[in-house]
Amino acid sequence: MSLKSKDLTGIKGLDAEDIELILETAAGFKDVLRRDIKKVPALRGKTAVNLFYEPSTRTRTSFELAAKRLSTDVVNFSVSTSSVVKGETLRDTAQTIQALGADLIVVRHPCSGAPHFLARHLQASVINAGDGTDEHPTQALLDLLTMREKRGNIEGLEVAIVGDILHSRVAKSNIYALRKLGAGVRLIGPPALVPPYMEEFGVRIFSDMDAGLEGADIVMMLRIQLERQGKGFFPTKEEYFNNWGLTARRLMRAKKNAIVMHPGPMNRGVEIASDVADGERSAILEQVTNGLAVRMAVLYLLSGVKG
Ligand code: CP
Repeated sequence: MSLKSKDLTGIKGLDAEDIELILETAAGFKDVLRRDIKKVPALRGKTAVNLFYEPSTRTRTSFELAAKRLSTDVVNFSVSTSSVVKGETLRDTAQTIQALGADLIVVRHPCSGAPHFLARHLQASVINAGDGTDEHPTQALLDLLTMREKRGNIEGLEVAIVGDILHSRVAKSNIYALRKLGAGVRLIGPPALVPPYMEEFGVRIFSDMDAGLEGADIVMMLRIQLERQGKGFFPTKEEYFNNWGLTARRLMRAKKNAIVMHPGPMNRGVEIASDVADGERSAILEQVTNGLAVRMAVLYLLSGVKG
């Protein structure tokens, strides 16, 4: 069992068959994670390196745990204490890590396209853990696994993605994945953050949140990137919450059994009210748990393919 490519650079390059294989493999690893001994020898002798040029809580930790659960040797490369601070290039750094024996390199980088660049220059498998505003494929895969567990089937679901779509790599990967599997996608947010050209993705666009949530099966909230405040995308956090924040009242517009998702980290009281984030319809912590199984599946499936 393996994927068609040696790398996972994005959902855009996967077909529905690849996505199904990852989700089925992840479901199998969830069984392993429920056992007393949560470790299998599947990738003994392999080496994975986490190369993160941006901060992360969920993604880096779950890639590390996923590697350990598969008996892979894993190294967390610290950019701030490495020769990157002396000016070493991304390619030289990655080739150095490969020369030390890395089979799998997990990379997060602020520049869109950085993992694609490395994939072209390395024999090791490259996994995109988030590149600029482009893609975050393992986040979309764990989101799909969560939706499937909660609702049985992705095809035919109506998924509302709310917030800063323009800058969101999570949104892009989810849009590609959901459209490939036959779900309907609505994008909701201020016009400056949900530009009309995004209709080309085969989605519907709403600036009115109540209208966009009507009858949705899944409500996926995105982090408002506060570091971009003051750049004219929206006037104030309070105004943003009043128009596009998810409250219990607003959630009533969606289906009765709709679930609430968020990739994290959350801005409570900005894009989502705390009682909704912690409420019975929230699947946010289940997303995190599913991230471990999905990342085990990706490491496992890619380790069988070498370019
Ligand atoms: N969802 C996500 O990518 O979270 P981290 O930035 O904590 O990895």
